[in-house]
Amino acid sequence: METTTAVSLEVDLAPRRPGALRLKNPVLTASGTFGYGTEYARLVDVERLGAVVSKAVTLRPRDGNPQPRIAETPAGMLNAIGLQNVGVHAVIRDKAPIWAKWSVPVVVNVAGFSVEEYVEVARLLDGVPGVAGLELNISCPNVRSEGETFGLRCESAAAVTAAVRAATDLPLIVKLSPNVTDVAEIARAVAGAGADALSLINTIPGMVIDLKARRPYLANKTGGLSGPAIRPIAVRMVYEVAQAVDVPIVGIGGIATAEDALQFLMAGATAVEVGTATFVNPHAALEIVDGLRAWLRREGIRDVREIVGAAQPGR
Ligand SMILES: Cc1cc2nc3c(=O)[nH]c(=O)nc-3n(C[C@H](O)[C@H](O)[C@H](O)COP(=O)(O)O)c2cc1C
Repeated sequence: METTTAVSLEVDLAPRRPGALRLKNPVLTASGTFGYGTEYARLVDVERLGAVVSKAVTLRPRDGNPQPRIAETPAGMLNAIGLQNVGVHAVIRDKAPIWAKWSVPVVVNVAGFSVEEYVEVARLLDGVPGVAGLELNISCPNVRSEGETFGLRCESAAAVTAAVRAATDLPLIVKLSPNVTDVAEIARAVAGAGADALSLINTIPGMVIDLKARRPYLANKTGGLSGPAIRPIAVRMVYEVAQAVDVPIVGIGGIATAEDALQFLMAGATAVEVGTATFVNPHAALEIVDGLRAWLRREGIRDVREIVGAAQPGR
């Protein structure tokens, strides 16, 4: 398989912390679509991934929203899982010891309903063997601030980033919400508050109506849209954010093939996360790793970093 031309797929998602989050390839799993990685380990060679990103972890365990909480949509799906998870203490006790035996880095997706909760979860995860970094999911409502979502305003997005930054030395990726008018403005605020990298996009709110019941189909009424339907929106946002910040970007949204991943890299992403596609094909992320390598070899490119931002003006 690995014949003549050696192609480097290695990327660094936290260049300010040398060696802390250097990945052997730029393909990660997206939070909430790969469990804690452990569920897939029998099915997929997780060690071949660039990194695993866990399901969102909160301070206390959460049951999530009532059913139904998933709906199929054209070229995608709606989900309203509601941050169901076992809580940070169980993650540290039961999951991290397994991750510590893997060579693939595991990034823990952190969610919270107050700045204090994010900080507490980050502090508890700091220094835990098996935890390679944090991804802050700032698409959560702040219970202390009239339910306003952290990721929708520069001030609250920067405040939670700065507070977590002060609580841990772990590489910190902040995951941006697409539900804003100017994503570049939020990206600048979060990068300025100390994020090592940014990931985008999270899901876009949507609704499906059950005609028989004449009601929204999801018990939660609305859900987050993901899958190929959102890909052009995500590519556009990565392109805009790449012009606004100089920290690495992780592109997310409807990536199912190496060609999809390449669009994000050319728009300016250093790496990508694969989400909904894994539900259709559990091997999607690994096929993207192989597809990227094959594409680069065909193009005579020896280092994946050469194509990052290739679609930007002046390149
Ligand atoms: C079932 C499901 C659960 C998700 N759970 C989380 C989560 O816990 N934390 C988070 O930051 N994003 C979560 N997401 C969002 C994904 O990580 C990703 O940002 C989004 O689905 C877009 O990528 P995709 O189109 O490749 O799925 C979830 C998505 C799905 C479909």
